[in-house]
Amino acid sequence: MKKIAVIGSGTMGNGIAHTFAQFGYQVNLVDVRGEALEQAMVTISKNLDRQVAKEVITGKDKTIILGNISTFSDLKTGVAEADLVVEAATENMELKLKIFKDLDAFAPKEAILASNTSSISITRIASATERRDRIIGMHFMNPVPVMKLVEVIRGYATSDQTTNIIMDLSRKLSKVPVEVNDYPGFVANRILMPMINEAIYSLYEGVAGVREIDTVMTLGMAHPMGPLQLADFIGLDVCLAIMQVLHEGFANPKYAPCPLLVNMVTAGKKGVKSGEGFYDYSQGIKNPEVSAKFSK
Ligand SMILES: NC(=O)c1ccc[n+]([C@@H]2O[C@H](COP(=O)([O-])OP(=O)(O)OC[C@H]3O[C@@H](n4cnc5c(N)ncnc54)[C@H](O)[C@@H]3O)[C@@H](O)[C@H]2O)c1
Repeated sequence: MKKIAVIGSGTMGNGIAHTFAQFGYQVNLVDVRGEALEQAMVTISKNLDRQVAKEVITGKDKTIILGNISTFSDLKTGVAEADLVVEAATENMELKLKIFKDLDAFAPKEAILASNTSSISITRIASATERRDRIIGMHFMNPVPVMKLVEVIRGYATSDQTTNIIMDLSRKLSKVPVEVNDYPGFVANRILMPMINEAIYSLYEGVAGVREIDTVMTLGMAHPMGPLQLADFIGLDVCLAIMQVLHEGFANPKYAPCPLLVNMVTAGKKGVKSGEGFYDYSQGIKNPEVSAKFSK
């Protein structure tokens, strides 16, 4: 594994490119939007500055790491010589099926194709290709350069060889890989999202207010952030989409998204990215006030 192509240069894609480049891999970062690629390089540079300030890397390392990354707006050219492709494009089933069909056509026949999807079935993604044994989930956590976990998801036809290669590669990136099977939400979101949904139900049913719910979980359970604030950071639209995958995938009413979550997303209140969710981020993301909608 020397050449890595990363598809999508948003929040996760730029972090994945940064991480591979930091560990000496040649990275082709691909995005359909030129401005997303430009923004990604600015973000990577800023995040590297932070690592220099913390003495994790030197200024010289920064130059080498940036030199390991090339940007492409054309998928075919970007993946032509890749040993591994990590797809981190927008979370949308149709889009991912199309991307994997193209990757199967354009990437070298022996290349492994991985997806960073939060919730879409790896087995379903593999069905768009002729190399189902070499399709796998490589689910990094945000922010990628900092977070240690990689959830490695085996699709129905993923081979032992592919799994072992991706487990070893994750360790080379100084991450801790955990192998899981391909069922809705995998492990991370199957546990996290129902907890967040239950916190929203507690608010919806008037059990307690936003701050009270988050304080119970931060001070009572030693979580670094309360579930409502975490939902705002993840994006309420993303939380809703994952709950819908769990609800449909298991056909079990216990995964029904809370009506308050549905209403908030419909009203455009998506959390940090829209400026308001359970908290109001109009004055920045540090120490936000509870949204006027939920303050007593
Ligand atoms: N944000 C998170 O905390 C998080 C955590 C783990 C996994 N994920 C998963 O990572 C993936 C990316 O999420 P994100 O938060 O980085 O999204 P994002 O919206 O920040 O970035 C997605 C990028 O994909 C690009 N894109 C769209 N179609 C494309 C195509 N056909 N070819 C190339 N690029 C294309 C977009 O232009 C955009 O820049 C999703 O599958 C998501 O579920 C997200």
